[in-house]
Amino acid sequence: MDRRDFIKQSCIGSIVACVSVSGFSSCRILSGIARTPEIPPEAIVFSNNEVTILLNKVPELKKVGIAYKLATKSEKKLIIVHSDDKQAPYKVFENSCSHGGSELELSRNMLRCPSFGHSKFDLKGEVLKGPAQEKIRSFPVNLNGDKITVDLT
Ligand code: FES
Repeated sequence: MDRRDFIKQSCIGSIVACVSVSGFSSCRILSGIARTPEIPPEAIVFSNNEVTILLNKVPELKKVGIAYKLATKSEKKLIIVHSDDKQAPYKVFENSCSHGGSELELSRNMLRCPSFGHSKFDLKGEVLKGPAQEKIRSFPVNLNGDKITVDLT
């Protein structure tokens, strides 16, 4: 083994040791940041186990291919997607990758984790690509005119 190989192997060994000792998955260490905007507070109405989104206060969400995130009073993080599904255009999911909990972002017609593992989910919440193994939770949505009501039970 020459000097260059020795240094290279020592560095790789040190990184592996640090990751192992810290107990974190590589996703947590090399975490990306989702760029999904937040719904403005004036567009959200909370009541019991529902949250209503007022589309006239967040008109950008009327466009197909747009996503926003919001946090409920119980600190549950959600992501709402306006998909091209004509029957049920709005989809709401827990905004947390089932692999390591990173917030998700809409990428074309799927939800993508910006963390190192880059798990992908379809717009039913099913895993398209790991390392995530479990689907992400989705919530029933009712669209009534300019109001989207999300059942959080
Ligand atoms: S947190 Fe690891 S792939 Fe999402």
